Amino acid sequence: MKPPERFETKRLILRKPCMADAPAIFASYAQDPEITRYMTWTPHKNIDETYGIVEMMLKYWEDGSTYSFAIIPKDSSSVVGMIAMHPAGFKVEIGYVLARPHWGKGFITEAARMVINWLLEQPSIYRVFATCDVENLASAHVMEKVGMKREGILRQNTIRFNVGNEPRDSYIYAIVK
Ligand SMILES: CC(C)(COP(=O)(O)OP(=O)(O)OC[C@H]1O[C@@H](n2cnc3c(N)ncnc32)[C@H](O)[C@@H]1OP(=O)(O)O)[C@@H](O)C(=O)NCCC(=O)NCCS
Repeated sequence: MKPPERFETKRLILRKPCMADAPAIFASYAQDPEITRYMTWTPHKNIDETYGIVEMMLKYWEDGSTYSFAIIPKDSSSVVGMIAMHPAGFKVEIGYVLARPHWGKGFITEAARMVINWLLEQPSIYRVFATCDVENLASAHVMEKVGMKREGILRQNTIRFNVGNEPRDSYIYAIVK
């Protein structure tokens, strides 16, 4: 599968990131310890780290391993989050993050619906799934709102270094054709 470089929802543009997005990514979410608490990466210490990550995202677009989309509200011109697709044959894992001032507006629900609908329209894709820490209630709630079903708990599945050094339990959610 090869997604388009741009999607549009009612309130959002989702598009392939570019190097010029790095300052907005750093400022809006990548350095924020509250946002990154349940992520598998630690807050960026400086903007060079963010430039490095954007460079990696572009490389992954080329090799097809991950397609990341910058989230830009139509009433702004700046990146406020990211949603990503990680294909693995007939299934795709999704992940997302959003700047705190925009939490609770339904942005990620809107973005995830668009991405999931597109993915399930692809003949080769049968399953879209995501995982989140069992304490990440906002993320679990997004998955439920977009019609994903909780399939179980992956016990001691993920180390979240912002919480501690021990592996933690994750929920796994999926939606299938
Ligand atoms: C998870 C995250 C992406 C959600 O983005 P968002 O745009 O605020 O999500 P939405 O507004 O679409 O939906 C969030 C839902 O969770 C609910 N919610 C938020 N915090 C909650 C909590 N602590 N407990 C239960 N529900 C919660 C909201 O009320 C909303 O539900 P509602 O529309 O029924 O009221 C955002 O909080 C985030 O970036 N968190 C940090 C990064 C992260 O954890 N990413 C996911 C990794 S798996």
